[in-house]
Amino acid sequence: MSADDPRLAEAAAVLRARGFGGPFALAVVAGTGLGPLAEALAAPRHLAYAEIPHCPVSGVTGHAGRLVAGRLAGREVLLFQGRTHPYERGEAGAMRIPLGLVAALGAPPLLLTNAAGSLLAEAGPGSLALITDHLNLAGMNPLIGEPADGRFVPMVDAYDPALRAGLRRAAAVAGLRLHEGVYAWFAGPSFETPAEIRMAGRLGADLVGMSTVPEVILARFFSLRVAALSLVTNYAAGFTGGAPSHAETKRVAAAAAGDVVRLLTAWLEDLS
Ligand code: HPA
Repeated sequence: MSADDPRLAEAAAVLRARGFGGPFALAVVAGTGLGPLAEALAAPRHLAYAEIPHCPVSGVTGHAGRLVAGRLAGREVLLFQGRTHPYERGEAGAMRIPLGLVAALGAPPLLLTNAAGSLLAEAGPGSLALITDHLNLAGMNPLIGEPADGRFVPMVDAYDPALRAGLRRAAAVAGLRLHEGVYAWFAGPSFETPAEIRMAGRLGADLVGMSTVPEVILARFFSLRVAALSLVTNYAAGFTGGAPSHAETKRVAAAAAGDVVRLLTAWLEDLS
């Protein structure tokens, strides 16, 4: 497998033939419960992942499993409505084909979104947080087995500083509070124990989740400019009396999806 993987050429040809050739101002991966982002796109076109050769299909509830192209703030956006997680099949490179397709379709800036648990007292459920850096605590890497020197991907400023600055400006314009923090990837699918969360906190984590980190590594492998946004759906395990649940994740994410749309709308007006 390499960046010029023939599977990518095949999948990209299908997308071009189906009217998904771009150019796009932005590509977005919608995390759990953030599917409603698709409803904000004007003149939308849809394509099920199942119709895209080699594209993984997620079985996780809260993930529709289709590609949507449409306009937001007058700009053409490519939205992956749902992602496949490494915990579904044990493959850290589960999102390799979708992210390689972003590169093949003109390499627009990429925004990864996720639902996350928060270790920040001031960022409770419903908050938005910009990811500044990550901790890979899952013991997996999507580039294991990659044969060429391209696998030695630098991860300094992996979360693109200029895109982050633009998102901060957009949050100010939209009147939204945007927290910031380091995201720790746990493989899941079980939620973390309180002891694991205490450990992650001591290591420097502010947010925890089960995605995004391998996607950022793949995005940098494909030379994409990438930013990532967490929608906090709960305090991390042990912070409060309750236990995180997938039902809560979906409910809180859906309720805050409107804020994400406002942020993206303001960002697209700023994004050159
Ligand atoms: N942990 C891991 N993943 C999550 C969480 C959490 O607390 N909340 C939403 N996704």
